[in-house]
Amino acid sequence: STETTLAGIHFDNCLMNAAGVYCYDADELNQIQKSAAGTFVTKSATVVPRAGNPEPRYLSTPWGSINSMGLPNKGLPYYLDYVSQQQTLFPEKRYFQSITGFNIDEDEALLKQITDSDFNGLVELNLSCPNVPGKPQTGYDFETVEQILTRVFEVYEGPLGVKLPPYFDIVHFDQMAAILNQFPLAFINSVNSIGNGLTIDAATERVSIKPKHGFGGIGGDYIKPTALANVHTFYQRLKPEIQIIGTGGVKSGQDVFEHLLCGASMVQVGTALHKEGPQIFDRLTAELQTIMQQKGYNKIADFKGKLKYL
Ligand code: DHB
Repeated sequence: STETTLAGIHFDNCLMNAAGVYCYDADELNQIQKSAAGTFVTKSATVVPRAGNPEPRYLSTPWGSINSMGLPNKGLPYYLDYVSQQQTLFPEKRYFQSITGFNIDEDEALLKQITDSDFNGLVELNLSCPNVPGKPQTGYDFETVEQILTRVFEVYEGPLGVKLPPYFDIVHFDQMAAILNQFPLAFINSVNSIGNGLTIDAATERVSIKPKHGFGGIGGDYIKPTALANVHTFYQRLKPEIQIIGTGGVKSGQDVFEHLLCGASMVQVGTALHKEGPQIFDRLTAELQTIMQQKGYNKIADFKGKLKYL
């Protein structure tokens, strides 16, 4: 079985979409709902709906993707309404609401709206959007992360986790883990895209997306080693109550298995879901089941986090 538990909540499947992919509106979210995914996360909601950056703003490449979406979203009330309907239709399921404030007061305002709604799922606070011109990625500003989490847990009582950017230095892992361990986080999600990459087209001698002179977040095959390193480093450093969602470079059952082996309790799919569509969850689930059968594992707990060293 590929079921899992996060924050004491049971999910029939450990697989789901990554925020930003197939989650902009009811039509896309319905497709994830009909798929083999265990649940969904909404597009990161802001206080005010946003059109996002000019197009083209996403490109699928042979080895991954580049995007500079700029947080296009329908605003928090839209997603809370949608989730509320799904909660009524499927009372046994729980969903993730992603949110992004542009400052600490907006984070607080978003969380108050959630508290005042009938939302009964998990909040994923996005600390890592790389694509809004002039706005640094919060996750790279350690002091601000500590301030935000202090305020967040003063105003919000439900299960909440943070979506983190990738880190690349052991001292940064140590410092961020020490901050995260001070708070009653339900989970962290590692990783968001590797920010501000550049893909170009040699034939036309042009960049491939319009915003930010072609700079954008990199996903897909390129980022799997970085994602696994982040998942496993935080698995080693975080208190066990803080569980991990593994995201980055997942396009096969083996990739899912590797994230789980590194310590993830759930695994999200972004670039490959965009490319293949929600049927990908059937294939990934079947491939993971085959690997587990071959290895004699009946459940995720048999191997989760049990990566071996040389
Ligand atoms: C966007 C991209 C991200 O990587 C993210 O975390 C949030 C938003 C975006 O451009 O919409």
